[in-house]
Amino acid sequence: MSTTKQDTDYKTNRIRGPLNSWMFKVLSGYLDHLFGKSKRTLFKDHPDTVVEIGPGAGANMRYLRKGTRLIAIEPNVHMHNNLKKAAKKYGINLDIRTIKGESIDLEDNSCDFVVSTLVLCTVSDPEQCLQQVKRILKPSGTFVFIEHVKARDNSFLSLFQKLVHRPWHWFFEGCHTNRDTQSVLESSGFSSLELIPYNLYSPFIPIIPQIRGRAIK
Ligand SMILES: C[S@@+](CC[C@H](N)C(=O)[O-])C[C@H]1O[C@@H](n2cnc3c(N)ncnc32)[C@H](O)[C@@H]1O
Repeated sequence: MSTTKQDTDYKTNRIRGPLNSWMFKVLSGYLDHLFGKSKRTLFKDHPDTVVEIGPGAGANMRYLRKGTRLIAIEPNVHMHNNLKKAAKKYGINLDIRTIKGESIDLEDNSCDFVVSTLVLCTVSDPEQCLQQVKRILKPSGTFVFIEHVKARDNSFLSLFQKLVHRPWHWFFEGCHTNRDTQSVLESSGFSSLELIPYNLYSPFIPIIPQIRGRAIK
């Protein structure tokens, strides 16, 4: 297990950081109940090395084969302990990079498979992050994603997303309830994009509208 620190300007709150890490760890069983089926489909037949943007407390490790090398692009140091614990639990060979998805320290055309779940809502610059994903993917490499997105204009969910945006953004350290991640993905220049919009009903009302799918470089 290794940790590389190259970007020290990422600021996380010393109360909200550990609280979010704890919360995502505690919720991991519930997240599996919500997302397990989709994740098992998206991660099926993944290669031996996987790059994950914003793995948080390690919610996706349970879907990876034992012995997988996971390059974890996770700038929030408060997530790292739980990431390491999850790696031990699921037999994952973890390589943590304390850097942002907008500036990944991997070679061009060097990766087969990149994952992000519930992350493009939070990165400061989703366009740049996706350009980085494209840059590091080999030709025909795959990016799989599950993200919550902006609700349909003038809907109840759109109003609700607007109402809770400020406290939500504050508590979840930069998460945008109503980011138009679908448009960002559609304009990011992948050679093919398979994207399914759907509503995932749960008590987390602002994140009911979601997309999932895969993009090929
Ligand atoms: C809502 S959590 C999702 C965690 C995990 N992917 C999951 O599905 O449970 C968002 C994660 O994105 C990370 N993150 C925030 N900004 C980031 C950035 N610029 N680059 C990479 N990860 C980032 C956060 O630290 C956090 O771990």
